[in-house]
Amino acid sequence: MLFDVVTLFPGMFDGYLRQSLLNKAIEGELTDVRVRDLRQWSRDKHNSVDDRPFGGGPGMVIRVEPVVECVEQITTENPAPPHIVLLTPRGRRLDQQVVEELAAKPRLILLCGRYEGFDQRIVDILRPDEVSIGDFILNGGEVAAMVVIDTVVRLVPGVLGDERSAEEDSFSLPNRLLEFPHYTRPREYRGHAVPDVLLSGDHQQIAQWRKQQSYETTKSRRADLL
Ligand code: 6GU
Repeated sequence: MLFDVVTLFPGMFDGYLRQSLLNKAIEGELTDVRVRDLRQWSRDKHNSVDDRPFGGGPGMVIRVEPVVECVEQITTENPAPPHIVLLTPRGRRLDQQVVEELAAKPRLILLCGRYEGFDQRIVDILRPDEVSIGDFILNGGEVAAMVVIDTVVRLVPGVLGDERSAEEDSFSLPNRLLEFPHYTRPREYRGHAVPDVLLSGDHQQIAQWRKQQSYETTKSRRADLL
């Protein structure tokens, strides 16, 4: 899986990409993340890529030419056909189903916005998949792009040590329920004991208990998932 991130703040990705799971996936060549500074596609001496909105109003708008020309150029740098994702609160909402869809692509170009948003012609010309990470407003698309990378890369074969752990996570197939609770040592802490069934060694009973816990938790917290 190849990610190209187009941003005005490339430095925001440094720490994130060095965290262990991502770093290992990149070192092991299971994935590659190329962070591109949109200002390199600016056309003026001030390296500006934004301008005031036609029609007035507050804030600045990202110009069409740098984004379109950047995407055109980076597309030619690799033979894998890119799926273009534009991070915006106007997009369809990211959930595990969308993550699975994105993970099936060989290459994602993630466009991060700032300010009031993108010139609409970027959307009209590039026809990106517009994606939001939830019903709240971020200061820009960078954190959302990290969320996309983080969620997608876990589904790349070989990235997780134990493939089963992705399958058992909340929202994953087959049931898309919330996860059951986990326990480790000690067996008792400040009067809080580990449920007996987990110490019973009866794997059928344990599986049954976990399924029940998943269902009850989902019913009380997220009935919309049932
Ligand atoms: Cl993708 N961008 C911004 N700026 N805010 C958001 C978002 C994206 N998703 C939710 N809020």
